[in-house]
Amino acid sequence: MLESSQPLTDDFEKPFRFEAVDATETEPVAKRLEAEDATPESVAVLGPGEFEKGRTLKIPKRRREWLAARLAAKRLLGWHLQQEGVYLRPNQIEILNREDGSPRVLLEGRRDYDTVSLSLSHSRGTGVAAIAPPGLRVGVDLEAIEPRAASFLSVMAHDEEWGDWMDHDLSEQTRLWTLKEAVSKLLLTGFTVGFHDVRFPLHGETRRLSLHNKALETYERLGSPIIHFDSFVRQDEVLSIAYTTGDSVHG
Ligand SMILES: CC(C)(COP(=O)(O)OP(=O)(O)OC[C@H]1O[C@@H](n2cnc3c(N)ncnc32)[C@H](O)[C@@H]1OP(=O)(O)O)[C@@H](O)C(=O)NCCC(=O)NCCS
Repeated sequence: MLESSQPLTDDFEKPFRFEAVDATETEPVAKRLEAEDATPESVAVLGPGEFEKGRTLKIPKRRREWLAARLAAKRLLGWHLQQEGVYLRPNQIEILNREDGSPRVLLEGRRDYDTVSLSLSHSRGTGVAAIAPPGLRVGVDLEAIEPRAASFLSVMAHDEEWGDWMDHDLSEQTRLWTLKEAVSKLLLTGFTVGFHDVRFPLHGETRRLSLHNKALETYERLGSPIIHFDSFVRQDEVLSIAYTTGDSVHG
């Protein structure tokens, strides 16, 4: 782990669950989905809405990432539903999208399920998902550690978030981006808010979250929950998870 604003201790268990599905696991399902005579039944794990959406994705890489995130989410949701005494097959748990792009869970083709907070991300063939229990929120982002254009970095990062040492620190550049994306997903705004509206100013070697403008308004509408964040380096990728624990800044 690179940094956590809420380290794991004996009396603190992380409130979210996380799952990752890689390209190897996705491939057999992708092949079944791509078959000329594919049907929801032949693909088996996808519901009708997912089947339709999956078939419209033209780029194989995009289709596989989309699939990987769904397989990860189905596993988490299946587990959570079992805790509630509900036993469903993977194809009865569909992960579609709302108009704003955020994940929408549909059970048995007819029942919206928004009891848990679900967040998805994909990068280079891997799909990840995180869920948080009722009343809590989670946002996840996975990005490859790779050089990013100076023009992008200068627009993405606020001066308060940048130190000279970051000019050549691709991990930290990537981490900053994943933190912003994870929070924008937790808020369900995505980057309809400005990059600088979700800000992680440096305080010495650590960062603290500060929200501005539309991001702050959205946050206040949610009751100003304290947002924690964890970042991990996985091989050549950074994974960041933003989550709430039920505490609010108002005590
Ligand atoms: C949300 C956003 C930050 C995602 O980042 P990304 O680097 O493109 O992609 P990632 O792989 O990390 O994440 C994609 C996932 O974010 C989720 N997502 C999209 N919009 C979201 C939102 N408003 N809130 C929470 N999650 C969202 C989706 O589940 C998506 O996966 P899926 O399409 O397989 O369901 C980015 O797409 C964004 O800023 N969108 C808002 C602006 C926009 O383009 N809106 C169009 C709406 S269709």
